[in-house]
Amino acid sequence: MNPRSLAFRLGAWYTLLLGVIFVLLGAATFFGLQSYLKSTLLDSIRRRSTQVQQILFEAPASVADAELQRQIDSRVAPAFNNRFLRVTRLPAAVIYRSGAPANGEFDPAAVGPPVDPAPGAGAADRARTLPELGILLSTSVLDTASGRYRVEMGASLHPMQTVLSHQLVVLAILLPMLVVAAAASGYVLVNRALRPVDRISALAEQLSLQNLSQRLPVERTGDALERLAIALNNMLGRLRDSVQTQRRFLADASHELRTPLTVIKGELQELSSQTRASAEEMRERVGSVLEEVGRLEQLVSGLLMLSRLDAGERPREWADVDLAELAHSTAEQMRLIAEDGGVVVDLSDLRRAVVRGDRARLKQVIVNLLDNAIRYTPRGGRVSIRSREEAQCGVLEVKDTGVGIPADALPRVFDRFFRVDDARSRDDGGAGIGLSIVKSICTVHGAEIAVESELGHGSCFRLRFPRITGRILPAATSNENLKTG
Ligand SMILES: Nc1ncnc2c1ncn2[C@@H]1O[C@H](COP(=O)(O)OP(=O)(O)OP(=O)(O)O)[C@@H](O)[C@H]1O
Ligand SMILES: [Mg+2]
Repeated sequence: MNPRSLAFRLGAWYTLLLGVIFVLLGAATFFGLQSYLKSTLLDSIRRRSTQVQQILFEAPASVADAELQRQIDSRVAPAFNNRFLRVTRLPAAVIYRSGAPANGEFDPAAVGPPVDPAPGAGAADRARTLPELGILLSTSVLDTASGRYRVEMGASLHPMQTVLSHQLVVLAILLPMLVVAAAASGYVLVNRALRPVDRISALAEQLSLQNLSQRLPVERTGDALERLAIALNNMLGRLRDSVQTQRRFLADASHELRTPLTVIKGELQELSSQTRASAEEMRERVGSVLEEVGRLEQLVSGLLMLSRLDAGERPREWADVDLAELAHSTAEQMRLIAEDGGVVVDLSDLRRAVVRGDRARLKQVIVNLLDNAIRYTPRGGRVSIRSREEAQCGVLEVKDTGVGIPADALPRVFDRFFRVDDARSRDDGGAGIGLSIVKSICTVHGAEIAVESELGHGSCFRLRFPRITGRILPAATSNENLKTG
């Protein structure tokens, strides 16, 4: 039994509370019984006293003391009934004194001089206890035809005290037994109530990244423990999804890295086996290797950028950026690529749109979108970039007249390593992470991204930045990308 455990502490408090309640209840019964017994005894004394008073009232004015004594003996018989009786004709003539009671419980001779009740005292106040003799005594004063009398009627407290001490013994034995029984059952109950918590912690001990599909048993009790089990199960579900996404990401990334490495290895093996390769041939092979190295480099920096965004890395500079100006300078830098692809880049509709953000990352967004638009637009096509301010937002659009994206692929274009046409994109060197980088950067900037596309006619990517309240989202939000990306 661990004294610091929840079960022990709850049990201890429960026992203490019950103990106090039992003691209070015991005290209440004891004092209640005492007062009941006392008032019953007093009633019986008064009834006898009334009988004596009746005799005194009924007596004629000239009654002899002996006659009164006779009547009291025959009608009340105090000694026989174990009562004390003393009748005094005031001021001081004792005309009757009862003898020793039949049960010998008190000595009538030991009862001291009378104490008259205060004038106007109530029935209860006219009674007094003589503790040294163990007697309850009720005193009344009455005026009759034969004179003024004081009637003192008493009875032994002993039977009442016997009942009370029995009661005390019963309480003294019963109370500790009840408290011990309550403590034991309380401890057992608390332990049983906390058993689901033990099960939860046992499962938590067994959990590892390998068995995240285990679930806690949920007992439909509707209480906090049911809610805890459900919340933990939901958390496990999210954790498993997240781990699976990470694993898929790692597998996809390794796969993408392997392809150029295989090509490089092949080229180098060929080079090493050719003893007499011409300078032309050498240049060609080295050029091919360099191309793959370039692809690798691009892929690795893309992956690095994604993992930094996932880790919630804050943008270095957070400044006002004019999307029109940034798009213009970026497009100028990519003009050569566009010309190579035979694509015209239209910058005629760039209007000032200032947003808060990290210039380098926003540039990356434009580079990726433009790169896609140029790459997936056949010769003779057109790519237009537009920017404008609209209802507290900075809007950027990259539109092309290219191959378009099939409707069923649209929701997945922002997924990591997703390519509409694997073979085609691989030839073009795309790994399928450009748009997921765009999406992660947008999330960090609190921007929304939407895409519209018609197969064979072209696509349009639209970004909507909060212009005034551009803010860095907390790290947790960017980690969420893991699930979608
Ligand atoms: N403008 C576009 N027109 C047609 N298809 C597009 C366009 N932009 C993207 N896609 C499709 O969406 C896929 C995902 O694009 P994303 O930019 O993420 O990858 P990628 O361009 O293939 O490779 P990466 O950008 O990593 O070099 C592309 O493979 C392509 O199939
Ligand atoms: Mg791309």
